[in-house]
Amino acid sequence: MNKQLYVWHNGKPVKAIIRNYSERDFDGLMDAQKLSFPPPFPEELLWNKEQLVEHVSRFREGALCAEVDGRIVGSMTGLIVDMGEYGHEHSWESVTDNGYIRNHRPDGNTLYVVDICVIPEYRKTGLGKWLMQSMYETAVQLRLERLLGGGRMPGYRAKSLEATPQQYVEKVLAGEWTDPVISFLLRCGRVPVGIAQNYLEDEESLHHAVIMEWRNPFRNQLSTNQTINQQAESE
Ligand SMILES: CC(C)(COP(=O)(O)OP(=O)(O)OC[C@H]1O[C@@H](n2cnc3c(N)ncnc32)[C@H](O)[C@@H]1OP(=O)(O)O)[C@@H](O)C(=O)NCCC(=O)NCCS
Repeated sequence: MNKQLYVWHNGKPVKAIIRNYSERDFDGLMDAQKLSFPPPFPEELLWNKEQLVEHVSRFREGALCAEVDGRIVGSMTGLIVDMGEYGHEHSWESVTDNGYIRNHRPDGNTLYVVDICVIPEYRKTGLGKWLMQSMYETAVQLRLERLLGGGRMPGYRAKSLEATPQQYVEKVLAGEWTDPVISFLLRCGRVPVGIAQNYLEDEESLHHAVIMEWRNPFRNQLSTNQTINQQAESE
């Protein structure tokens, strides 16, 4: 993956690059994480070098960064899993191997998102969506069935006396409330398929996450056609 594009920053177009990250980017990636996930997000959940080494050596295609003027301003990381091994009530720790992705399975069916972030200075410029779009393209290129991941719901704590997690998500889906992450993911084309409790140590979300998917439209078509062909053959 390597693409150049323009995003609007402070009202002006600026050149950005979305590409796979490598070892020389590690310091920039760790800086971007610190700026993107301030306290109360636990510091021990930010990338360390050992995790980044695993990402680039096990699944380089799923290791993406956004660069502006030579600076890393965002990143997104994934791994491939067979979701049959996990189920809806999974945790971030179990599916991502605590961010080390040593459970990456090239023969799996699902591109699972470990993390996405954009530093505050470059938020709302479209870079988060471009990172997501680039990961969709990676899923298509690798002929995977879908992309899946747990979206934090950091607006939930403030509303937790008024709503259960399910009611909170319903209100976000109805457009009555906005959540900084779930509303973003909806705008990226992700669709909720369930809510996981105890997904990640994340006080703002009261440790919940909305499991949200994006299905590879070409794979769906393929499997529908295959089903039709299979039906035709058996008739
Ligand atoms: C979530 C995050 C990656 C979004 O990145 P971003 O670059 O600001 O998002 P974009 O500019 O690409 O926005 C894409 C769309 O989402 C919307 N959006 C972005 N942030 C939003 C917010 N806080 N509330 C509501 N909508 C939002 C944008 O308006 C845009 O809508 P459009 O496509 O209709 O124009 C970024 O806010 C972030 O890094 N947050 C902290 C880290 C985090 O919690 N990551 C999620 C881990 S699960």
